[in-house]
Amino acid sequence: MDQNPTKTTGIVLHRGRLYDLFFGPFVRLSDTAVLDLAEVSAGDRVLDIGTGPGYLALAASRRVGPKGLAVGIDASPEMIERARERAMRRRSSAEYRVAAAESLPFDDGTFDVVVNRLVFHHLVGDLKELALGEIGRVLKPGGRLLIADMSSRAARGGHHLAAHILGTHPEAERHLEELVADAGFIKVRSSRLMHGLLEAVFARNPERNLA
Ligand SMILES: C[S@@+](CC[C@H](N)C(=O)[O-])C[C@H]1O[C@@H](n2cnc3c(N)ncnc32)[C@H](O)[C@@H]1O
Repeated sequence: MDQNPTKTTGIVLHRGRLYDLFFGPFVRLSDTAVLDLAEVSAGDRVLDIGTGPGYLALAASRRVGPKGLAVGIDASPEMIERARERAMRRRSSAEYRVAAAESLPFDDGTFDVVVNRLVFHHLVGDLKELALGEIGRVLKPGGRLLIADMSSRAARGGHHLAAHILGTHPEAERHLEELVADAGFIKVRSSRLMHGLLEAVFARNPERNLA
């Protein structure tokens, strides 16, 4: 296991096996749709933030092929261990690292695409804004961002209850599209996935010269 635990105030999941068992089969149904909406294609360099047991990064690695790169990060060492085991079993080139969304260990302009699914509601307090700042930094100018998260206020309400039980302090709801636009992304648009259970927000990093 990666022995370098990452500090975050996000809601980190440690039970990779349980997640795989109870949520994996359902969650993975949206792999293709998420990658399609993010316009992932051969040769892209893709980062999956909050990868959990690694599903999206694994699917992305197949799509980007040998000339591309697919990396998954998660603040949970247990999730990353599980993702690496899965990638090894599938002989995948997907890479996984323990890291926090709000402090990404990559150089500016490393990726063509950043995706994340069911992660933003885990980023409490100011972590969403911090993560969006980091995403803008590691994306190339013009790079694509796709955030997929629970769509209904009721679903989020359920999660907020869990957050209270875990001792965190969830912030007031702010619409994802608004957050993304406020962070400086452009061409922001949203759509629904999985019969409306997920909201997907697509955006582009503005074209600008890297300092
Ligand atoms: C509901 S799971 C989603 C996993 C995966 N994206 C999927 O679609 O199956 C949310 C993941 O976000 C991770 N997470 C929470 N806070 C984080 C942070 N600050 N940085 C990175 N990952 C974080 C959790 O550990 C967990 O694995």
